[in-house]
Amino acid sequence: MLDLTAFNKKKYTPYETPLERADKLELFLGKDSPTIYIKRDDLLGLTGGGNKTRKLEFLMADAIKKNSNAIITNGAIQSNHCRLTLAASIRENFECHLVLEERIPNTFNQEASGNNFLFQLLGATSITVAKKGENIQDITKKIAHNLTKKGKTPYIIPGGGSNEIGALGYVNCFHEMKEQFKPLQIKPSTIICTSGSSGTHAGLVTGINISNEPIKCIGISIMRLKAEQLELVHSLASKTARLLQSNTSINREDVIIYDNYVGNGYSDPTPEMIEAVTILAQTEGILLDPVYTGKALAGMIDLIRKNKIKSDETIIFIHTGGSPALYAYQKEFTQTLKTNYQKST
Ligand SMILES: Cc1ncc(COP(=O)(O)O)c(C=O)c1O
Repeated sequence: MLDLTAFNKKKYTPYETPLERADKLELFLGKDSPTIYIKRDDLLGLTGGGNKTRKLEFLMADAIKKNSNAIITNGAIQSNHCRLTLAASIRENFECHLVLEERIPNTFNQEASGNNFLFQLLGATSITVAKKGENIQDITKKIAHNLTKKGKTPYIIPGGGSNEIGALGYVNCFHEMKEQFKPLQIKPSTIICTSGSSGTHAGLVTGINISNEPIKCIGISIMRLKAEQLELVHSLASKTARLLQSNTSINREDVIIYDNYVGNGYSDPTPEMIEAVTILAQTEGILLDPVYTGKALAGMIDLIRKNKIKSDETIIFIHTGGSPALYAYQKEFTQTLKTNYQKST
């Protein structure tokens, strides 16, 4: 039995996110399609929604418990995590300092749209841009040190909010979904999520393990090779289970990773990602993002087309959000879109 009541938690979403049947997507995928549900975590609270909101509910509560008043975190130049950490900091009336990592050389553009625009609109206290190869942990620590010297009490949230406190958000998500299975009368065989900084995947694996449910959790890597990602998720799931004082140990076999949908690297668009984002927009009217959920859905569609997921299964795709980043990638999409514009007369 999962018991998260011992942990302090803020509430940034005043409802459960829907678990919606994606029957138009099923129709599009044809007779080999399993029954597909989408967990709409893109509809979580805070600015623009997405998975970090669940992690931040626990992380910000911890920061408050530690009497902090300034948050520092880091992420990529279009980081959804930075956007949401900034939004949560505004809610708590904290300063928020962002360290943005330029993972592809010369890609940072102060004028860029998407999350970059939102960092400015939401009023980050400071933004430090680190070149590829610079040590962002050192930069983050230095900012914390300077804030302390100024009499502030800084709290560092790790990239992606992925430590055992943040991962509790996805233990909680599994718990929430389990309660939704009953009224829907479904017994899902598989949950599919994006596996990045690993908190989402690790939290789900921990939740499934503690509940002892016969459900597989597949993580689609968006950055690392399988062996490295597996270690990351396994290690965090094990720490999360320990934090929960659970005596279940997490087996490596319970961490399933596919690393063949990354393409050339983190945030580099693939044709399959563009296809997946377009399919979901045009079948279900749901927006994904180009860096995470677009690649994860591309992976899920491929696994269905290759019959690795069978038509008699019920599966859940975790929509972890990120659509604000879409607006920074318009160019990559417009080449393939064929809108039928007509003259008005
Ligand atoms: C939209 C979106 N989906 C998925 C992920 C990956 O989640 P995690 O970092 O917990 O592995 C991220 C991480 O930033 C994200 O922004």
